[in-house]
Amino acid sequence: MIKPLRLGVNIDHVATIRNARGGLHPDPVRAAIVAAGAGADGITAHLREDRRHISDHDIKRLANEVALPLNLEMAATPEMLAIALNHTPNACCIVPEKRLEVTTEGGLDVVKFHDHLAPYIQELQDRGIRVSLFIDPDAGQVNTAAKLGADIIELHTGRYCDTAGKDRDFELEALKAAASMGDALGLEIHAGHGLSFETVKNVAAIPEVVELNIGHFLIGEAIYSGLETSIRRMRSLMEDGRRAARGIRTA
Ligand code: PXP
Repeated sequence: MIKPLRLGVNIDHVATIRNARGGLHPDPVRAAIVAAGAGADGITAHLREDRRHISDHDIKRLANEVALPLNLEMAATPEMLAIALNHTPNACCIVPEKRLEVTTEGGLDVVKFHDHLAPYIQELQDRGIRVSLFIDPDAGQVNTAAKLGADIIELHTGRYCDTAGKDRDFELEALKAAASMGDALGLEIHAGHGLSFETVKNVAAIPEVVELNIGHFLIGEAIYSGLETSIRRMRSLMEDGRRAARGIRTA
């Protein structure tokens, strides 16, 4: 049976717009509440080391004022670990922030940074926080994520979204293979980065993927149609993709 597909709405870029003027508007917490009303299953926010969009105060409010599960994206640093342990979000997605932590493709290099990451994963899990690793769809990365004991891998969809034609087909196959491998290793499979109305269906059709985290496109599209409409349309396209997956399975 194919599992339902959740949508985590990333509200970072509401804070980007707010910070352009330094005031309080637009409020990312209000956006999170609208997202909940539009059918989002979770809220994702990335607290960056330079605080370029989401602030510490936003994280506190998102944890306290929004009923949906919070997925905190963070770098594996002592400062971010302390913040995560303080707010105990539902999940933490460890992402690369310094250039050294990035593979050429853009995900977190969990093979290279295995020893650095292991204690962070342990401490978060000891507090009941689920740990996700944002990695490229690469067999070595998936295998090491499983060995590290992560609960979840979030597959980086950036290259799939940024390519076209045969290159995009190739990237989609890489996502499918990584999802299947991760699932077989007992990992929960999420995906995200750069997804849009055009690119979402094929990823939603990968049966092992159970959550998509989408931000920039949704917030951008909200300029034209409003946030609620943009989220509802994305959900509907995700469902179309999921139906295709069910068709493939039952054929
Ligand atoms: N997932 C992860 C781990 C990310 O770092 C981001 C970007 O913050 C996203 C998903 C969402 O990407 P986008 O804003 O391009 O939809």
